Amino acid sequence: MREEKITSKIKESWALGEDRRKLKDYYQKWASSYDDDVAREQYFAPKVAIDLILELYHQRDSFRQPNDQVKEQKVSLSTMKVLDAGCGTGLVGALLAQVGARQISGFDLSAEMVAQAKQKNIYDKLLEGVDITQPLVDQIDASDFDLVTCIGVLTQGHVPPLGLDRLIEVTRVNGYVVLNARDTYVREHDFKAYCDGLQDEGRLKFLHCEYHLSSGDSQALFVVAQRLK
Ligand SMILES: C[S@@+](CC[C@H](N)C(=O)[O-])C[C@H]1O[C@@H](n2cnc3c(N)ncnc32)[C@H](O)[C@@H]1O
Repeated sequence: MREEKITSKIKESWALGEDRRKLKDYYQKWASSYDDDVAREQYFAPKVAIDLILELYHQRDSFRQPNDQVKEQKVSLSTMKVLDAGCGTGLVGALLAQVGARQISGFDLSAEMVAQAKQKNIYDKLLEGVDITQPLVDQIDASDFDLVTCIGVLTQGHVPPLGLDRLIEVTRVNGYVVLNARDTYVREHDFKAYCDGLQDEGRLKFLHCEYHLSSGDSQALFVVAQRLK
């Protein structure tokens, strides 16, 4: 019974038409019960994203400081500059902290979701009222993140694929973007073709682009991409 109600609440959020006022109102009301509700609905997406980040971190030598020097050390998870875009109540940040990330910034459109994230005491810097559909550099005053996560945000009724361009702008060259997009969103927005376009322009290299279980029985495309220029 309860699960039915939660599922419809999530589905309801898909009908917000990318309207910022409606999104703010919706998440204002949902913020205080969001963590419990999505836990009951088996929201796997943050965990899938962290597993992909760990896989990437352990496999690749390219988690290196900007201006790589010959003898340079691989960036440790604790010194990586991470941005959690559309951080919500901080579920992704909490998992990032569990695996050793220590420099985590976050932002969200919703003040109430950010207020919940603040209570987790994980993020060094948290900003509310930041809109991912608008240029981010001015809004967050940084553009050199080693890793940018954006989970549950490029979804129906929320943020169009343009959001990915905004994420790239604040990722350092050779840094990584990790995001997910629900299967229906991928189809409706032709999101794979959008990603191919960015790769053809030489802006991004896609290292992982596969469907995984995201919540309940619903699938999402999980993307790990490296900024090339
Ligand atoms: C489903 S929640 C995901 C939150 C968190 N990343 C997680 O995985 O639990 C979607 C979040 O996207 C935020 N959001 C929606 N539109 C946005 C926009 N244009 N700019 C920034 N954040 C936005 C909402 O406020 C909400 O916190």
